[in-house]
Amino acid sequence: MSEIKKIKEEYISKLDKVLDQHKLNEIKSELFGKNGIISNKFKQLSSINEDKRKEFASELNFLKNELQEVILKKNEDIQNQEINKKLKDDNIDVTLPGRSYFSGKIHPVSQVIDEVTSIFSEIGFSVEEGPDVENEYYNFSALNTPENHPARDMHDTFYLDRSKDLLLRTHTSPVQIRTMLKGKPPFKIIAPGRTYRHDSDQTHSPMFHQLEGLHIDKSINMGHLKGCLYYFVKKFFEVDKVKIRFRPSHFPFTEPSAEVDIGYKIQDGKIKIGEGDKWLEILGCGMVHPNVLKNAKVNPKQYQGYAFGVGIDRLAMLKYGINDLRAFFESDIRWLEFYGFDPLDVPTNYRGLSR
Ligand code: DAH
Repeated sequence: MSEIKKIKEEYISKLDKVLDQHKLNEIKSELFGKNGIISNKFKQLSSINEDKRKEFASELNFLKNELQEVILKKNEDIQNQEINKKLKDDNIDVTLPGRSYFSGKIHPVSQVIDEVTSIFSEIGFSVEEGPDVENEYYNFSALNTPENHPARDMHDTFYLDRSKDLLLRTHTSPVQIRTMLKGKPPFKIIAPGRTYRHDSDQTHSPMFHQLEGLHIDKSINMGHLKGCLYYFVKKFFEVDKVKIRFRPSHFPFTEPSAEVDIGYKIQDGKIKIGEGDKWLEILGCGMVHPNVLKNAKVNPKQYQGYAFGVGIDRLAMLKYGINDLRAFFESDIRWLEFYGFDPLDVPTNYRGLSR
């Protein structure tokens, strides 16, 4: 068998068995590389007898073309195979169900703070904040609650030092003093926040939330207080009509003082706010005591106004039918899953709130 034929047979069979690009490249350089078999054969041409050279050269050229064609074809095949394999492996099964993921929930307290803030901001109240660790003066004395006043006992205060100067605020009312001292009247603010008392049962927790309201201007009277609270209760409980009762009460920082009850009834085991002949206490309020205004450097002869304090947790319990306050703060994720709110699942009239 001629040398050319031998090379041809050997390499055609080799190429036939090639399965990947790497092996193909190896054979390619074995044949056509610098020291490749075919390249060397071309180099030998000049040493062949003239009478045989022409024939050999043409056979060699023929072989070269043939092998190159086979290599080209093989190259294409390998590439196609790789593409097909990739397509097969990357196959997307569109019939698979989507992957579920865990999304967090908004706590009912945060939700109610957002709702309430939105409602009051619609009628011109801005939001203030104060510290959880208060001093005795802002929490009691400046609010016209002198030492030995029974209200101090009622509040079951957590004191933080022996001098009884630092304490965990028992209500959000000290924010009234802080707000008035740092600004100039008129004031129209709400102050939501955490409050603390030595108390724990189904409806009391040592840490709870309140919302303070304060409106001071030159001619604010109790009519404004009533109007404001009617508006708030109707918006918050999403009812057109509501029964409200102002019951005379006593707070050292207001004169006169009142507690506010709302009418309700139980229907099909659920509480219905605004109807019925039962009463439920929801907040304390009154006209700010002149002593409080004086302590906050506001002249009571020129300015007066109302204040109110409402329990946020209680509002959440009433509106969303939650009956044990302690569960609010147990951080049980299953409870939050059930009672919590989706971040965008807010009633339409509250949308647009920044959170
Ligand atoms: N601070 C009172 C409390 O925690 C609630 C309260 C009553 C706040 C009357 C007020 C108010 O601003 O005017 O029991």
